[in-house]
Amino acid sequence: MDFLKNYFSYIKGLIPQHSSECSIGLDIGPTECKMAVVKSQGEKIFQLLDFAIEPVISGHIVETLRQILKRVQCPYDSVYSAVSGRGTLIRYIPMPRMSSEDLQRSFEIEMDKYFPFPRDQIYADFYILNPHEKTMQMAVMAAACRREIIEERIKLLTELGLKTYFIGINPVALANTFNIFHSEKKIRDSAVALMDMGESVSTLTIFLGEQPRFTRDIFIGGRDFTKKISQRINLSFEEAEALKNNPHERLSQVIEAYEDVVRHMVHEMKLSLDYFSTEYNQDVSVLFLTGGASLLQGLTDILQKVLEIQVSLWDPLEGLKIDAVISKKLQRQDSFKLGVALGLALYDYD
Ligand SMILES: Nc1ncnc2c1ncn2[C@@H]1O[C@H](COP(=O)(O)OP(=O)(O)OP(=O)(O)O)[C@@H](O)[C@H]1O
Ligand SMILES: [Mg+2]
Repeated sequence: MDFLKNYFSYIKGLIPQHSSECSIGLDIGPTECKMAVVKSQGEKIFQLLDFAIEPVISGHIVETLRQILKRVQCPYDSVYSAVSGRGTLIRYIPMPRMSSEDLQRSFEIEMDKYFPFPRDQIYADFYILNPHEKTMQMAVMAAACRREIIEERIKLLTELGLKTYFIGINPVALANTFNIFHSEKKIRDSAVALMDMGESVSTLTIFLGEQPRFTRDIFIGGRDFTKKISQRINLSFEEAEALKNNPHERLSQVIEAYEDVVRHMVHEMKLSLDYFSTEYNQDVSVLFLTGGASLLQGLTDILQKVLEIQVSLWDPLEGLKIDAVISKKLQRQDSFKLGVALGLALYDYD
C-alpha cells in the first residue's frame, strides 16, 4: 500500500497534464459538501462554471456527492479533494539549506520529531517554501495525515467512479485561492493572517508574503456560536441558528449571548499571533476572515477591538469571472464557503 502515500501531496508531480475543459474541486465535510467547477480563460483569469453546497444527510456522503456531481456539465474523470481537521497536521520547520534529495533523507530519519503519530500510521509529505532564496536557512512545510483518513477518501472516490491523483490538505488549498485572488497585494509585503471559520473548526494561517508560515486548527466554529445563543436565549438549535444568521434588531442580544465563545477564540488566536511575532520577529498587520461562520454579525468589530489589528472579511470568489446565471444563484454566504473547493479546482492550473 506504500504507493498511497503519493496521493497525499502538495506538489503536483504526479498529476497528468490537464486534458479536460474544466477542473473540479470538492470540499468534502462531515456536515456539508461543496463543489467548485472552474475553467481557465488565460493567464490567471478563471471562470466559475458552477458550484454546489449540499448538506450531508445522516452521514451519507457518497449520496450527497453523487447528487452534486450529476450537475457537472463538462466531461471529467477526476477531481481534486483534500483532508482536514483531527488526524491531520501541518508543521513549519526551519532547516539548513540543502538539496531536496538530502531533505528527503533527513525528513525520513527525523519524521518522528515533527509529528505526534506513530510513523507507520501516517502519510507525510514536505515542501520547500522558499526554494529560490539564497538564505542559509530554508522554510520547510511538512504535513502528515493518518493513513485511514486517506484510505477512506480513496475508497469514497473510487465508489463514485472517480480517479484521483492527488489529495491535498484544506489550509493549503485555501492558501492557493488567497494567493491567486487576493487583490490587496501591497498588504502582502507584511505578515497577514487568514482564518477560515467553519461549522466546527476555525483554521488560522499566517503568511509572510505569499508563503504560509503558521497553521493551526482552533476547534471553535459556527456551531459553538449557535449553541451558546440557544442556551442563553433559551431557543432550540434551529431557532438560534436562524436568529444568528439574521439577528436584525436583536443584534445586541445575540452578541451578548455569543460573547463568551469569542472570548475563548480570541484567547487561542492571541497565543498564536504572539507566538508568530516572537518566532518571526514580525507583527501580524491584518486578519482576514472567511468561511461561513465569519459572517457572524458583530464579530469583525469585536475582533478588531480586542486583537488591536485590522480585521476584514475576505470573499474567496472576489477575483473570479462569474456569469449572470451562476451569479444569481450565489448567495453571499455561498461565496464565503467556497474558498477550499475553489483552491482545489485551481490546482489544475498552477
Ligand atoms: N450569515 C451567517 N451568520 C453567521 N454564521 C453563518 C452565516 N451563514 C453561515 N453561517 C455559519 O457558517 C457555518 C458553516 O460554514 P462553512 O460552510 O464554512 O463550514 P464547513 O466548512 O462546512 O465546516 P468545517 O470546516 O468545520 O467542516 C455554520 O456554522 C453556519 O451557522
Ligand atoms: Mg470548511
